[in-house]
Amino acid sequence: MSGAAAPFAHPLLRAPTPDAWIAQACATPDVLMIDHANCEKKAASTALALMFAYAEDLELAGKMSRLAREELRHYEQVANLIGALKIVPQRLAPGRYAAQLRRLVAREEPEREVDLMVCGAFIEARSCERFAALAPAIGAPWSDLFLGLHDAEARHFKVYLDLARRAAKRAEVKLQQRVEDFAALEAELITRPDPVFRFHSGPPAAS
Ligand SMILES: [Fe+2]
Ligand SMILES: [Fe+2]
Repeated sequence: MSGAAAPFAHPLLRAPTPDAWIAQACATPDVLMIDHANCEKKAASTALALMFAYAEDLELAGKMSRLAREELRHYEQVANLIGALKIVPQRLAPGRYAAQLRRLVAREEPEREVDLMVCGAFIEARSCERFAALAPAIGAPWSDLFLGLHDAEARHFKVYLDLARRAAKRAEVKLQQRVEDFAALEAELITRPDPVFRFHSGPPAAS
């Protein structure tokens, strides 16, 4: 964990974004932006996948449909800035973060739905925390975009958390235990040195 002086208080996250990750993001904004665009596309596609997975659930479908549309609008905002900055598009493989969080998701229902919603809440919460940490450090022209997206991601993590609470109640699963399990892994992925720099990566492995 990075040596932040002030205690880090968050309803889900257990560790702040390390300073070394922020320094790397400021030094390599092109990779940051291309991966960020991928994250927005993936967020929309995950929301659509959940609509198919829980097709009988109209409440979930309504929330995920709105979320998918919003994530695609975020993608367009990121893509517009990529274009304006003349960043050369490239294919980037995803980092370890989402894939390793997904490994914690139960294979069987009804636990699987609870875990999928908890997992979504953590990814959205980390995006939100990262935008707030990054904006003042990276400055213009990125900071306006990041601060604009921050509030949406804060809403999104609450949407997922509400769906997690609902699913846990139905399944009679102890939600707090699953939140703790994901929180521990998530904090490890954010603080353990990471050989691949991405929007949700840990601090650079070489430093
Ligand atoms: Fe987004
Ligand atoms: Fe989001």
